[in-house]
Amino acid sequence: MISLRKVSKVLSSGGQPLTVLHPVQLDIQRGEFAAVMGPSGSGKSTLLGLIAGLDSPSSGEIQVNGQAITGMNEDQLARFRSDTIGFVFQSFQLIPSLTALENVQVPLEIRGETGAAKRAKELLSQVGLEARSHHYPVQLSGGEQQRVAVARAFACRPLVLLADEPTGNLDSATGALIIKLLQQLHEEEGTTLVLVTHDPEIAAAAKRVIKLRDGRVVEDAPSNGKPSTGKSATGKDSLKTTVKKTTVKKTAVQKSAKKETVKKPASKPAAKKASQTISRKSAAKKPSAKKPTAKKASTSKTTRSKA
Ligand SMILES: Nc1ncnc2c1ncn2[C@@H]1O[C@H](COP(=O)(O)OP(=O)(O)O)[C@@H](O)[C@H]1O
Ligand SMILES: [Mg+2]
Repeated sequence: MISLRKVSKVLSSGGQPLTVLHPVQLDIQRGEFAAVMGPSGSGKSTLLGLIAGLDSPSSGEIQVNGQAITGMNEDQLARFRSDTIGFVFQSFQLIPSLTALENVQVPLEIRGETGAAKRAKELLSQVGLEARSHHYPVQLSGGEQQRVAVARAFACRPLVLLADEPTGNLDSATGALIIKLLQQLHEEEGTTLVLVTHDPEIAAAAKRVIKLRDGRVVEDAPSNGKPSTGKSATGKDSLKTTVKKTTVKKTAVQKSAKKETVKKPASKPAAKKASQTISRKSAAKKPSAKKPTAKKASTSKTTRSKA
């Protein structure tokens, strides 16, 4: 599914070459759940950005789902991302001017899918946020924003879901819920899941743990299902407990959902609203490879990827 052959990334730092990723060989099978760990600066985000086609390698070849993405031009890459990749970021990266529902709808509308609103509603319900559909990101907690981001990432049923420290800005209970959601959707949809995390308990939920250090893969082994922290409680058990609690909450949330629906104002398509905000923003800001949403936001409708 994902194949990296001698993939490296060399940047220029003060005129000097800086190797952030030494030639990496890596194969991740369809439907696999792999965690990527390593200290800050070890190249985890670089690796994910390369797999997502958000960044290009200095050497080597990357194939995803049988497609050599290393030879693609920008339009082909945008299409590849839209068709194949879902991305969840540490900082959520929701579009602030759109409601939760609209944020989930955008990638579906961009692809011209019929029933975008219906699917977006279903997804929000799956992540327990039906009652928050018409709230804007600023009205949501971090955990709720990340749940919207997870729903958005799965909207187009991507073959590959990449998550870069998705729990980095969340408390541990909320983080555990986000991981459980990612895991659940990965299992239900057969999505290949690559998850960057610092947290050994979270990595324990994966089937495989890939460890990076100084831009090299230093360990790549099946997960033993136990966190390597020495704590006696297993990560999996604590995840289960959290999800049970939240399922109860979700029912309460669903009860109050009706009221919210009545208040809903008729609105224009989310993608249109998004592109209006986006064109205002892009006039002020140039995109960079490190900010995929800004990049996404500033490109034209056809070349925009879903994040
Ligand atoms: N655009 C950039 N310019 C200069 N250095 C960068 C850039 N992007 C990443 N780096 C450097 O590359 C290394 C790997 O970064 P990154 O992949 O973000 O690491 P991680 O996600 O593991 O923390 C770091 O040393 C970082 O400072
Ligand atoms: Mg990173």
